[in-house]
Amino acid sequence: MKATLKNSLLTAATLPAIASAACISSGNQATIQNALQSGGNGAVVQLCPGAVIQITDQISFTADNQEISTQGYPTDSTRGTIQVAPGSSASTLIYGKNFNNIRIKNLQLEGNRGGAGLFPGGAANIEIGGFTTGQTVSNVASRNPRGWSCLHAIGSGDNNNPCKNVTIVNNDIGPCGQSGTDANGNGQWADGISLDCTASLVQGNTINGPTDGGIVIFGSPGSTITGNTIISSPDYVGFGAINMVDGEYDGSYAGVSVTNNNIQGQKLFNLGIGIGANVWSFGDPPPPLKGPATVTGNTISGHVSFPIAINGWSNGLTVTGNTVSGVPSPHSSFSDASQCSSQIQSVFNQNANLIYYPAGLTGTKNLQSGFVAAPGNTTNFLCSTIALPNSVTFNAGSLTISTDTGPFASLHNVIAQYQGDNNLVVLQSGTPVWASGHTLSQGCGSPSGCQLRFDSSGNLGTYFNGAVQWQTNTGGRGKTMVVLNSAPWIQIKDGSGNVIWDTTKST
Ligand SMILES: *[C@@H]1O[C@H](CO)[C@@H](O)[C@H](O)[C@H]1NC(C)=O
Ligand SMILES: *[C@@H]1O[C@H](CO)[C@@H](O)[C@H](O)[C@H]1NC(C)=O
Repeated sequence: MKATLKNSLLTAATLPAIASAACISSGNQATIQNALQSGGNGAVVQLCPGAVIQITDQISFTADNQEISTQGYPTDSTRGTIQVAPGSSASTLIYGKNFNNIRIKNLQLEGNRGGAGLFPGGAANIEIGGFTTGQTVSNVASRNPRGWSCLHAIGSGDNNNPCKNVTIVNNDIGPCGQSGTDANGNGQWADGISLDCTASLVQGNTINGPTDGGIVIFGSPGSTITGNTIISSPDYVGFGAINMVDGEYDGSYAGVSVTNNNIQGQKLFNLGIGIGANVWSFGDPPPPLKGPATVTGNTISGHVSFPIAINGWSNGLTVTGNTVSGVPSPHSSFSDASQCSSQIQSVFNQNANLIYYPAGLTGTKNLQSGFVAAPGNTTNFLCSTIALPNSVTFNAGSLTISTDTGPFASLHNVIAQYQGDNNLVVLQSGTPVWASGHTLSQGCGSPSGCQLRFDSSGNLGTYFNGAVQWQTNTGGRGKTMVVLNSAPWIQIKDGSGNVIWDTTKST
């Protein structure tokens, strides 16, 4: 009797903590949602190892102190998976705003951008933060978000009652997004971790393949970003690895410490660590951002056009003991800045790894040796590209594009593009140097009725609703089309390599 009584007391006392009757091995978002709802404050809802749960709507925490995790806390591929189903209208998988001490642990979160599609205006795979303290995300894989980030801890919006003490540790994040825009002009890039909470810790995470910012710090005073590895995608250009460029908290980064992180550029990161309101493509809010902040002991290697750049900062900055010797020199061996401003081209051509604009850094500063002073106001370091060739060749039949599809040839110093008025234009350093003309005063319409074709007969022409507007009359003879970054810009050659048309013979 005594033993039985003791057992039942023990069971009753420990039930809320270990919570799980059984782990969840199948179901959908409602299975997890119902368990959170019925468990209330402190509920621990666990997937079974290996479980794969398809969802068509987000899972939302319903009370403080709740946890979603995999039973036994594995850290490998047996972590339970939550995956957005194709055809779903969900972009966020787990939503935990405004609840204290919630935990997301040892799970795999698959946003399934490949299967479910990009979600323009969609949110992050994980959305936490708000009016909270003590939230944790650990040992979680988060990848392929349909929206703009793999993990977002949002601020409360009230500086007197900010989001506090988020712990984001030992997660494997990415890939997150792609580069460029889709056919409708929607940006396809995405952040790894987007942090907008104060006094928080981002430690020991691996972010592999972010395409916007790897770790984006939105001010987040008092936060520590340490021991993370951030690797750019092998397939897509990433904008930056660690961003200190966005202003929340009235621009304050007081007490922010970015230490001992390891940044590796594969295809390309434009920026390693960007510091200040003016290094990104915008100045938001009005510069400068404000320290005191510390950036020490970080290692940056590989294809990173601008490893550390500072512009638009005040009130204290320490940048010491960072190692950038693993970035290849010359930078032109892996990158191209010919589409950048002349000030940025200047520091690029000096192969500067550490860059600051003196007038854009006021207040106390302690910069390690090797910083190069930019000759002018270096705004927007997101201008570099992978190394670009001097010419590109198209075979007959291999080029068919509509208007407004971006440049069809990007060369060192030169781009060739087909504009929305049916004009085929070559620009050198942004200045038109040749154009086909035959523009349509009313434009090509929407969707565009215009087409540029180097067709299988070897003729290059522009067409509106199928009717030729301009052509090279090389059908039956042309075999290749060469776009060059010097005059005559475009040539058409026959099968023996003889030039049979170039832009000096415009028709
Ligand atoms: C921050 O949150 C963690 C739980 O994630 C807790 O253990 C720790 O005590 C909190 N720290 C502070 C200063 O509140
Ligand atoms: C640099 O340019 C930005 C953007 O135009 C501007 O907001 C900023 O004040 C300039 N910096 C300085 C020091 O003039």
